[in-house]
Amino acid sequence: MRPMKKRVVILISGRGSNMSALIEAAGDPGFPAQIVGVISNRSDAKGLAAAASLGIETKAITRADHTDKAAQDAALDAELKRLKADIVCLAGYMRLLTPSFTEKWAGRMINIHPSLLPLYKGLDTHQRAIDAGMRVHGCTVHFVTAEMDDGPIIAQAAVPILPSDDADTLANRVLGVEHQLYSLALRLVAEGKATMKDGRAVLSGVSAEGSLLSPGSASEAVDIESLARMTP
Ligand code: GRF
Repeated sequence: MRPMKKRVVILISGRGSNMSALIEAAGDPGFPAQIVGVISNRSDAKGLAAAASLGIETKAITRADHTDKAAQDAALDAELKRLKADIVCLAGYMRLLTPSFTEKWAGRMINIHPSLLPLYKGLDTHQRAIDAGMRVHGCTVHFVTAEMDDGPIIAQAAVPILPSDDADTLANRVLGVEHQLYSLALRLVAEGKATMKDGRAVLSGVSAEGSLLSPGSASEAVDIESLARMTP
């Protein structure tokens, strides 16, 4: 008998393309998790409508509807409990969660960030990587802790920065890889192969490459040979 699928709630603030990728991955009968809800801090988040159209329960829990951030996070916590969430996925959730909330969900909440952490925490990651003259950029899925974009790293994928790139072309290349990486990382967490212990992500039953997207598994992922060719 197959083990029970983990119940996943996704938190978003905007278009929700990573959310859609997770919903699609979870549509595979062999995937170890099911998406049971999508919650946004913005009632106008485009992703809410997309999730609802796929029959997924959605809800907006906004700051404006609550006296303070703690009350907003308490409402969020109550909703996650009502949905019996095992795992929370932040997917473009543009609001810092309170430390007591992140503590409650420690080891059960993950986030995707569009850079190779610990480089470029925060916003404008693509322009900052270009400005720094980086040849390689990418994305990271990590466990969420109280500090922004700072928790233990579960999985990463790299993409080349091309001489012709601007922030938009680079963002698109990274986004395509984000969609694959987030599903891979959620699978690891849902299967209990990626856990958080003593402030570190522990991978078990995963090969050295199992938490990386390599050129073979993602057409957009970094190809070291072509990088070398474009070096002046
Ligand atoms: C993604 O780039 C994600 O890494 C970052 O916010 C963006 C959200 O995009 N945290 P989308 O809403 O998933 O399309």
